[in-house]
Amino acid sequence: MANGPGDITTRRKFMSGAAAFLGALGAAFAAVPFIRAMSPTKDVLAAGVQEVDISNLREGELRTVIWRKQPVFILRRTPAMIEEASLINQAALADPAAPDERAADPGLFVSIGICTHLGCIPQFRDQVPETGVAGFYCPCHGGKYDNLGRRLGGPPPENLRLLPYRVEGQTLILGTERFGGYGENVRKIQDLPTV
Ligand code: FES
Repeated sequence: MANGPGDITTRRKFMSGAAAFLGALGAAFAAVPFIRAMSPTKDVLAAGVQEVDISNLREGELRTVIWRKQPVFILRRTPAMIEEASLINQAALADPAAPDERAADPGLFVSIGICTHLGCIPQFRDQVPETGVAGFYCPCHGGKYDNLGRRLGGPPPENLRLLPYRVEGQTLILGTERFGGYGENVRKIQDLPTV
């Protein structure tokens, strides 16, 4: 049967009403992710925090883990390493830092494992060349650091960077809000990798 003018008007009204309803519905759904992004869930807040069991980390052992896609050095310092670093003349360093600014617990050093020159991954050596001390050596261009990641020589402009962590019992928790070493020297901790 042919449609009369009344039918067409009614249908147009229905169509425009339906379109408006669907548009509003679409906008509501589209808003959900946006609202979620503004209100991070617990999972999102927890992302980037990583637990490492250090119960079997022996004295003198360096463990490298990946955190936020970056290598992180975890070094269980020996009493000899602690003493050796304490004897280094801090004032003579290019990037001066006291031992307790680099490690809250002297027995544990934690840093980003990336050379501050051009980004190679340094190696741990019992004797860093031409320094006579144990520490990190970057073979790419001869960057030298002590066992607290303080720059001793070569092209790196500054110390290995620190990251926030805390220790609970035998668990090291990387990516917390607290810093294991110094917290005030923002220059050394900026540009931390994001999740
Ligand atoms: S990248 Fe380490 S010394 Fe150049």
